[in-house]
Amino acid sequence: MSELRTDRLVLRRWRESDLEPWAAMNADPAVREHLGDLLTREQSDASVERFQAEFDERGYGWWAVEAIASGEFVGFAGLDLVDEEMPFGGVEVGWRLARSAWGHGYATEAGRASLAFGFETLGLPEIVAVTTAGNLRSQAVMCRLGMTCDPADDFEDPGAPEGPLRRNVLYRMSRGSRA
Ligand SMILES: CC(C)(COP(=O)(O)OP(=O)(O)OC[C@H]1O[C@@H](n2cnc3c(N)ncnc32)[C@H](O)[C@@H]1OP(=O)(O)O)[C@@H](O)C(=O)NCCC(=O)NCCS
Repeated sequence: MSELRTDRLVLRRWRESDLEPWAAMNADPAVREHLGDLLTREQSDASVERFQAEFDERGYGWWAVEAIASGEFVGFAGLDLVDEEMPFGGVEVGWRLARSAWGHGYATEAGRASLAFGFETLGLPEIVAVTTAGNLRSQAVMCRLGMTCDPADDFEDPGAPEGPLRRNVLYRMSRGSRA
């Protein structure tokens, strides 16, 4: 399935017209605060090529998120394989929105649709979510979705530089625990 629909959003494959607003997000220090360095236009475009290739390979990945009412690209959400260097495996759910799209419930709405796809269509037994200890907005999305965290699962991201991006929290949801 290449598209998911919610009340206000469509999660769809990426289009050429998404590249510019995506690059603007990746150049915004507010969006990148908990993610790392700002991305150049080239790095931003390359990330979309990677998303498309992963999607083709696996049948899921990071969808572009569009607000139905305005037709505007507002960010991404979806599912990804946890990076190999992480101290756990599995599939993670995630979200990233343009600053102007925060505060509307879009990440929670897109996250809920992604979890439903992961559990119901892919039949995953568990989905995790990862963010830095300081990214309270993202953790609030995880909590709203009903995901739970155990401080014993906190970990150091081996790929992150020394500093505030290194300490990470892990949230989990199992298929059986969904409300
Ligand atoms: C993480 C991120 C996606 C969270 O965005 P967000 O807007 O805070 O989260 P939601 O989309 O779920 O919106 C929730 C907010 O919308 C409000 N809201 C307004 N209208 C709403 C509606 N109709 N339905 C639900 N919530 C609504 C909620 O009250 C809540 O407000 P609050 O933040 O004042 O409590 C966003 O901060 C972001 O993109 N950050 C940068 C990238 C990033 O860090 N990504 C995560 C990496 S792990």
